[in-house]
Amino acid sequence: MAILVTGGAGYIGSHTCIELLQAGYEVVVLDNLCNSSEKSLDRVRQITGKEVTFYKGDILDREILKKLFSEHTITCCIHFAGLKAVGESVQMPLEYYYNNIAGTLVLTDEMRKHNCKNIIFSSSATVYGNPAQIPITEECPKGECTNPYGWTKSMLEQILTDIQKADPEWNVILLRYFNPIGAHKSGLIGENPNGVPNNLMPYITQVAVGKLKELGIFGDDYDTPDGTGVRDYIHVVDLAVGHVKALKKIDEKAGLCIYNLGTGQGYSVLDIVKNFEKANGVKIPYAIKPRRAGDIATCYSNADKAERELGWKAENGILQMCEDSWRWQKNNPNGYEE
Ligand code: NAD
Ligand code: UD1
Repeated sequence: MAILVTGGAGYIGSHTCIELLQAGYEVVVLDNLCNSSEKSLDRVRQITGKEVTFYKGDILDREILKKLFSEHTITCCIHFAGLKAVGESVQMPLEYYYNNIAGTLVLTDEMRKHNCKNIIFSSSATVYGNPAQIPITEECPKGECTNPYGWTKSMLEQILTDIQKADPEWNVILLRYFNPIGAHKSGLIGENPNGVPNNLMPYITQVAVGKLKELGIFGDDYDTPDGTGVRDYIHVVDLAVGHVKALKKIDEKAGLCIYNLGTGQGYSVLDIVKNFEKANGVKIPYAIKPRRAGDIATCYSNADKAERELGWKAENGILQMCEDSWRWQKNNPNGYEE
């Protein structure tokens, strides 16, 4: 009996593997390493002292899926595999729709054929578009996404919902992540973006480590307390624990469930800069730049439903997130490369 973790070598996947192994689950990872390194899994083994089975391959490849399902009894799939760079998705919509949507169709078809009808899917707060209400509850209607990446999440939520509706033997849990940051306390695994980071925290840590000169803050004229964008940053280990809790919900034959995974607390870009400096004693030079296309002013969750129904609540505060992000970056200035 094992849990299949697609995209398990990636940022959130590798942290989730640790929590699964520590909770006693057997873990099988399928990852094509298009945005990750196999070394993350060596570090997972090092941290936990446990084995994780790795298949290097694509969720679009039926042969490897058949092999994997014939070699293991998979009870549930936690599905992280996907392309996630917002800007790139605007340039390469076909690649994004093909990888994320066709990939998930192949994966779920093979799951069905092997009688594994339990899936936990990595969705995103991006499906709310410009949210109709703040804080955002799960009842808040989905909105217009501003990029193909966001649409793949929104469409995949619909596809998985329809699959579950047509065959109630399926249990589908859609987890809408807010803004994951931070890293494992060991400093051995963390976020490892290719090229210049698009997201705030990896940009800040690369400024701190001297790889980038200064942070550009995208707009200081939003309708927020200090004019900069407000988001719900969540520690990646808290997020990982949320998946272990969701597995327990799957065991209860939950049908279709949707949960926000956030802290319920909003921080502005300037708040993050100040907290990072306070937590780590490192100065982050910054300059105010124009707004970034597609950005919204404020996005934070109401995560009460996950607390009520999964018994899950984010535990790490913002200083801890900043401290752990920095430990990973400082110890691994070039990510998993030597
Ligand atoms: P990541 O890029 O670190 O991990 C994704 C993993 O999937 C990578 O290891 C990559 O190699 C693998 N992959 C991609 N396409 C594949 C394919 N066709 N076959 C096999 N493996 C494939 O990203 P992450 O930050 O860990 O995100 C994990 C999931 O969570 C993604 O689906 C992402 O869209 C979603 N998500 C992430 C965030 C975030 O801020 N990081 C927010 C919301 C949702
Ligand atoms: C972005 C994506 C979202 C995706 C998420 C996780 C967009 C519009 N949204 O969310 O779809 O799910 O990442 O991958 O890209 N900021 C700066 N300077 C920087 C980087 C960011 O000021 O160099 C600001 C942004 O304007 C925003 C905040 O920091 O206010 C957070 O940005 P980011 O980390 O990119 O996350 P989101 O935009 O919330």
